[in-house]
Amino acid sequence: MAESNATSDVVSYGYEGEVALVCVDNPPVNATGIAVRQGLVDAFKAINDEGKAKAIALYCAGRTFIAGADIREFGQPRKDPSLPEVCNALEASAIPTVSVIHGTALGGGYEVALATHARVALKGAKFGLPEVLLGIIPGAGGTQRLPRLSGIPFTLDIAVSGRHAKVEEGVDKGAIDRVVEAGDPRDIAIAMGQEVIAGTLPTRRTGDIDVTPDEAAINSTLAMVEKKNPHLINLAECVKAIAASTKPLMEGLAEERERIMRCIESPQRSGLIHAFFGERAVSNIPEAKGETRALDKIGVIGGGTMGSGITTSCLMAGIPVRLIEVQQEGLDRGVATITKNLDGAVSRGKMSQDKRDAALAMLEPSLAMEDLSDVDLVIEAVFEKMEIKKDIFGKLDTICKPGAILASNTSYLDINAIANMTNRPQDVLGLHFFSPAHVMRLLEIVQGEKTAPDALATGFALAKKLKKVGVLAQVCDGFIGNRILGHYGKVISYLVLDGASPADVDRALEGFGMAMGPHKVGDLAGLDIGYMTRQRRKEEGLPANERYGGDIADLICEREGYGRKTGKGYYLYETGAPVPNPAVEEIINEVRADKGITPKTFSDQDIVDRYMTAFISEAARVVEDGTAKRPVDVDMVFLFGYGFPRHRGGPLHYADSIGAKELVARIEAYAKEDPNYWQVPDLLRKMAEDGTTFADMNK
Ligand code: 3HC
Repeated sequence: MAESNATSDVVSYGYEGEVALVCVDNPPVNATGIAVRQGLVDAFKAINDEGKAKAIALYCAGRTFIAGADIREFGQPRKDPSLPEVCNALEASAIPTVSVIHGTALGGGYEVALATHARVALKGAKFGLPEVLLGIIPGAGGTQRLPRLSGIPFTLDIAVSGRHAKVEEGVDKGAIDRVVEAGDPRDIAIAMGQEVIAGTLPTRRTGDIDVTPDEAAINSTLAMVEKKNPHLINLAECVKAIAASTKPLMEGLAEERERIMRCIESPQRSGLIHAFFGERAVSNIPEAKGETRALDKIGVIGGGTMGSGITTSCLMAGIPVRLIEVQQEGLDRGVATITKNLDGAVSRGKMSQDKRDAALAMLEPSLAMEDLSDVDLVIEAVFEKMEIKKDIFGKLDTICKPGAILASNTSYLDINAIANMTNRPQDVLGLHFFSPAHVMRLLEIVQGEKTAPDALATGFALAKKLKKVGVLAQVCDGFIGNRILGHYGKVISYLVLDGASPADVDRALEGFGMAMGPHKVGDLAGLDIGYMTRQRRKEEGLPANERYGGDIADLICEREGYGRKTGKGYYLYETGAPVPNPAVEEIINEVRADKGITPKTFSDQDIVDRYMTAFISEAARVVEDGTAKRPVDVDMVFLFGYGFPRHRGGPLHYADSIGAKELVARIEAYAKEDPNYWQVPDLLRKMAEDGTTFADMNK
């Protein structure tokens, strides 16, 4: 215990002269679980009752001030005192109080600080109200007290963006009273308590301050969030709660409470919190831990879109890269793309000009593969042809130093076959980046049969350095993401064959939360890629019993074009905004007539149900056969690599909201139309029988 009197396992208080000190010590981030809440109320009451202090200073032990409510408690039975009650009790203290912030004061943590009578922060600390990112709103007075200190516009900015602001900005806006250069939080707490007593650090109850109404700011923010994020109900709730800050404090707090409760009960909260913990869970596995190898210099083979994106990502993380291409022209193109990527990062405010210059200076372009002799890791990102990859890995085996890791960025090829081209299969693994590789956060880390544990752990260390989300995958065609995509992609074409229009499918899935429907994505990415793949599959021979769904897409490519790059695809783009292409309707009618299909009507819900049921079926198989370690790994692949709506938590989190029984019933019903495509995965059938969920498998 940091102080001599404990009021709970994690809160203690003591005295230094006339300054009472209250310390929260609840690792890792001092979240306000029940022991913190009860401990704080009891400590402040005891100090007020004892009457020995003239000031109370609250500080935290460990790496940070309170970083928020304990979000594991959401959805659990409520335990009093609630955090709003704690804040009200702190604000009511007859003895003046001050908070000393180090690390981060976030959400409920910053709300506790707002309820004390002054806020002092260490240089470098950050504060914010990031609740909206978890599907809720500030619920312990943040929407009511921050406007009293900093006005409605600043509160809207902080609470609706959820950003972590520098405390120096907080001083400008009145949200923080003072920043101190350096020191130990306890020592600063003593000094600030003494200043409170001396009157050199002014204190006041935030709740006593009036708020200036700002209807214009409220209305424009409401319009902005409803346009930008129509799926998230909590954003509008947050704005409306802030609007209530012009009312007397207790009335405003009651309204905030009502609004946060609605958010807590919504499935969005559960989806977004699953995403928060999932992002951390994927690397919380034994394979990601333990010994790692050096990552001081990386080699990238291939200066195309992927190779350039991977190189950019490494340079942005401060890792020198040797980029290899076979011809000068390709190398020049690669360097130009990397330069453009880095310039884009500067213009988006992601890096400073100086950092961009330093990053570019760490790039060594070369035409000689022999130049990879001293790198710690090579990432091959050339054309997806097994013969080419085998040849490259054979050469790398003779060129690279012992212990260097040899990785392939293949998106579906067999890593074991590639590894077997070397005499060091233990050093080989897959590192599957997603395009654009310097932006997309997913990295599938593919374990070969013989990959050594330290090589695998280095893959996770690389993901961390690149600020990516590394997910472990086993070898199979397409690994986790592309394998599942390959399966549910077919249901989209079946829906259009059987009666939906491409625009119907896009509208339904955008309504579900996808940023863009699959046909718009196809037009944007270029329909030629899918066309070539289908032609190749046809040449190789489609599996017996498989219903071919590509006729419509094939004819669009042959008669209309490849999407945006040729001006026409599923949509026309004459005015910029996509308009359904009437020629596509004719093609659809022609194909349906040819195949003797009588079109059916699909509601938006039917479309979402068929699409998601197909998605979940293959995802269940991927978990069942061990390609993904747990359901949460599948979820994070789709959130960070494929733009799956974050508030849905991922396909298998969403699956739990439907339930295995209902999913099995749906598959069996659809199977009457196409028993080959619609098959119940064994895992799902077992879950339906046992009454278990995907969440159970994450534990
Ligand atoms: N509740 C419970 N656990 C939390 C937590 C929280 N609020 N915040 C972080 N943790 C856990 C993490 O899950 C992780 O656990 P693990 O080690 O078992 O994986 C551990 O604390 C450390 O977290 P990070 O790995 O994220 O550590 P970093 O140092 O990278 O980041 C942080 C620290 C900036 C505090 C980051 O954890 C964060 O952003 N946390 C969430 C902050 C937040 O959203 N606060 C608002 C909560 S909602 C609220 O307060 C409601 C109120 O208005 C009523």
